[in-house]
Amino acid sequence: MADAQFTPRVFSGIQPSGGLTLGNYLGALKRFVDIQNAGTHECVYCLVDLHAITVWQDPADLEAQTREAAAFFIASGIDPDRSILFNQSQVPGHAQLAWIFNCVARMGWMGRMTQWKDKAGKNSENASLGLFAYPALMAADILLYHATHVPVGEDQKQHLELTRDIAAKFNHDYGVDFFPITEPVIEGPATRVMSLRDGTKKMSKSDPSDMSRINMGDDADTIAQKFRKARTDPEPLPERYEDLKDRPEARNLVDIFAALSERSTDAVMAEVGGFGWGQFKPMLAELAVEKLSPISDEMTRMLADPAEIDTVLARGAERANAVAEPILRRTYEIAGMVGAEK
Ligand code: TYM
Repeated sequence: MADAQFTPRVFSGIQPSGGLTLGNYLGALKRFVDIQNAGTHECVYCLVDLHAITVWQDPADLEAQTREAAAFFIASGIDPDRSILFNQSQVPGHAQLAWIFNCVARMGWMGRMTQWKDKAGKNSENASLGLFAYPALMAADILLYHATHVPVGEDQKQHLELTRDIAAKFNHDYGVDFFPITEPVIEGPATRVMSLRDGTKKMSKSDPSDMSRINMGDDADTIAQKFRKARTDPEPLPERYEDLKDRPEARNLVDIFAALSERSTDAVMAEVGGFGWGQFKPMLAELAVEKLSPISDEMTRMLADPAEIDTVLARGAERANAVAEPILRRTYEIAGMVGAEK
C-alpha cells in the first residue's frame, strides 16, 4: 500500500501508571518533541489511561498520574497547540476500534507477546483479560488516526509488529486498503536506557531498587548520587564506541550522555575516550541535572493548577476525536455495522 495516500502522522503514547523515568524521557518524550519541532508530521500524543488499568490502579492515583504525565509532556516541550495531547479514555473510538481488533487478532499472536509473558508471569490465570488484549488496544490507538509513524523505545517493537499484522489482516479480510502499515521509529542512542544497577536490564519504574533509575522528579543531589553509585567496570572509557560492546553498564552511561547532549556516540567518545569514572560520572550527573531540573521544576509549577491541565486535555481530546471519528465510522461501515454510514 502506497504511504502517499496517508497524511504523515505520528502517534505515540505513555501509560500514566506513575513513576516516569529517564528511560521514558530519552526513549520517548525527547524524541516526540524533536518530531514535533521538525514540523514534518502531524503529532498525536496520548496518555493511555485505559492501558494503565490493565493492572490495578487506585482511581485517585490514576487521576494524579494522568495530570503528572500531561505536565511531563508539556514541561518537556510538547506544545498542545501544535501537537494533539489528550488522555485516551476521553476519545471513545479507542475502545470501540479495539473491540474490532480483538476480533481480528488471534489468541496465538497475543500469547507470543513477551510483555504479556513477563507481566502475567506464572500467574496468567489471574491476569486481567485486558492485559492479554493490551496490544489490540495499542493497535487501535495508532490506527484510529491512520498514523504512519510511531516513535517508541525498543521494548515496544514487538507490539508495533503486531499492529502491522492487525492492519494487514483487517485489510485482507475485508478486501480493503484502509489501514496504513505503520512504521515503527526506534532511533537514536537511547532507545533502550538500561538500569543503573544492571546493564542487562531495562531502566524501569517497576524495578524494586530506586537506585536503578533516574525518576523525572529526582532532585539534583539524588541524580548526582545515583550516577556516582551507578554500577560500572574498573576500566577507563575506550577511545572507540565499538569497544564498549561487551561493557553494558559503561555503554549505557555513554548512551545516556550522548542522548542528553544531543551528540552522536562517536562524538562523545572523541571527547571522553580515556577518561576514568571519577571524571566521567560527575560530568554526566551535571549534564543530567542541567537538562532534567528545568523539566521537573516546570512540572511542579504546572501541577499547582490541575484545572488548567484538565482544560488542555479536554481540548486535545476534542481535536483527537475530530480526526478519529470518521476513521472509526468508516471502519464500522467496512465491517457491516448497520447505521455506521450516517
Ligand atoms: P510505556 O508507558 O511503558 O513507556 C512509554 C514510552 O517510553 C519508552 N521507554 C523507554 N525507552 C527507552 N529506555 C527505557 N528504559 C524505556 N522505558 C520506557 C517506551 O518504549 C515507550 O515508547 N504500550 C506502551 C504505551 C502505548 C503506546 C501506544 C505506544 C499504548 N498505546 C501506541 C505507542 C503507540 C507502553 O506501555 O509504554
